[in-house]
Amino acid sequence: MLVSATEMLKKAVDGKYAVGQFNINNLEWTKSILATAQENSSPVILGVSEGAGKYMTGFKTVAAMVKAMIEEMNITVPVALHLDHGTYEGCYKCIKAGFSSIMFDGSHFPIDENVAKTKELVTIAHAMGLSIEAEVGSIGGEEDGVVGAGEIADPEECKKIADLGVDFLAAGIGNIHGKYPENWAGLDFDALAKTKALIGDLPLVLHGGTGIPSDMIQKAISLGVAKINVNTECQLYFQEATRKYIEAGKDLQGKGYDPRKLLAPGAEAIKEIVKEKMELFGSIGKA
Ligand code: 13P
Repeated sequence: MLVSATEMLKKAVDGKYAVGQFNINNLEWTKSILATAQENSSPVILGVSEGAGKYMTGFKTVAAMVKAMIEEMNITVPVALHLDHGTYEGCYKCIKAGFSSIMFDGSHFPIDENVAKTKELVTIAHAMGLSIEAEVGSIGGEEDGVVGAGEIADPEECKKIADLGVDFLAAGIGNIHGKYPENWAGLDFDALAKTKALIGDLPLVLHGGTGIPSDMIQKAISLGVAKINVNTECQLYFQEATRKYIEAGKDLQGKGYDPRKLLAPGAEAIKEIVKEKMELFGSIGKA
């Protein structure tokens, strides 16, 4: 069922686990993630970047597809449809399109502007029954054109944004979108602990979930992270499985060219990595 992410993340904070946000790009991605959540009784968040929304012809298409798939696939676990790194305009579009959750990424604005815009969007999102995530301190790297320097969030600024009534908060702690470089310094747990001490039980969000070692994921969860975003890893699994299929010449055998056959190994590979992440995050059986 389509729900906001508020309740599932409150439960995650209490239960000391995290819910995965898996980004979607098309029907296959969405189907694999929904099926895995249902098979494993796990709550799930479907993330949609503005670029992916555009690729799928617009947020209205995405919302209609997700709602119909939840119904046709008999998905009974809690599913949130969430805008990832939304602009101010993108947030309004997703509210109108029927998303159940939005992220306003005002991290590149001066803090006062981030506060003002976040505050306005919190009021509107809540009036419409959506949950809202905000961001302080940017996530490093690049995702669908959103580029960040990777600053560590100032805990005082986190508190300012938390006090606006956001439902969960992304605080940059050295995490990076995409693959991590060899010389990555790791997550800044001191900054995370300081922020946690100021914001209490507000769920924290860890972006850049791809490639973070398991022990760091577990420590982050123990310090209040209740939502972890994964995008690149699903793409890599899909790519690898598709490459194998083609390199083995399977697309040339029989009706191996049928798109439903051609895309099947990638779709299965996404299910495998999503399940692995749900196990690591501790969300299995928590629906
Ligand atoms: P990765 O692509 O590094 O998994 O990050 C995903 C993310 O943070 C989406 O906002």
